[in-house]
Amino acid sequence: MKFFVDTADVKDIRELNELGLLDGVTTNPSLIMKAGRDIKEVTKEICDIVDGPVSAEVTATEFTAMMKEADILSKIADNICIKVPLTFDGLRACKAITSDGRKVNVTLCFAATQALLAAKAGATFISPFIGRIDDMGVDGMELISEIRTIYDNYDFKTEILAASVRTVNHVKQAALIGADVATVPPATLRALVKHPLTDKGLDAFLADWAKTGQKIG
Ligand code: E4P
Repeated sequence: MKFFVDTADVKDIRELNELGLLDGVTTNPSLIMKAGRDIKEVTKEICDIVDGPVSAEVTATEFTAMMKEADILSKIADNICIKVPLTFDGLRACKAITSDGRKVNVTLCFAATQALLAAKAGATFISPFIGRIDDMGVDGMELISEIRTIYDNYDFKTEILAASVRTVNHVKQAALIGADVATVPPATLRALVKHPLTDKGLDAFLADWAKTGQKIG
């Protein structure tokens, strides 16, 4: 399973990339707002740090304007992946952008039938929003499972990018179902390494080691 980090915070991206954890990055207009930076400037900086795809989202909602924005965003770096919303204009833009070899992440997916349309439009990634579905009292993980089945039934190559991930358990469940990628907020990515028994076990080993009076190096 590939890990993308869901943020436009360059400090977090740099740190997680140095740990060797990152296969890519996803941003969205809200994350750019949170970072308080110019979209082109911060996206360029992110693309220079991470080798994998960096999703940058169009903000236009009409096809021609989306294509214009996609062309501007594409020029930022070779590893830009254009993010478009799951609307008819977004799907039309997806088809056009992927036809000339560029990557597209279709975002704001809340139904398996929407994911089917995105695959037919040639999407590189489909982003089902797990956490926001959970917020409505419905199990968001069901959607990942349905999309996995549909894509496997027809051998679609579109990668399932589990998004709106909020917990360590979301990451585990998405991996068990077979999502290709999870885009995870920095704090949740860091939480993946944590287990109380790991900390307790390490403390005990270090205490016993001190009693031996030995040194390895
Ligand atoms: C995905 O690409 C989105 O940026 C993101 O996962 C949305 O997450 P949220 O529902 O926590 O805002």
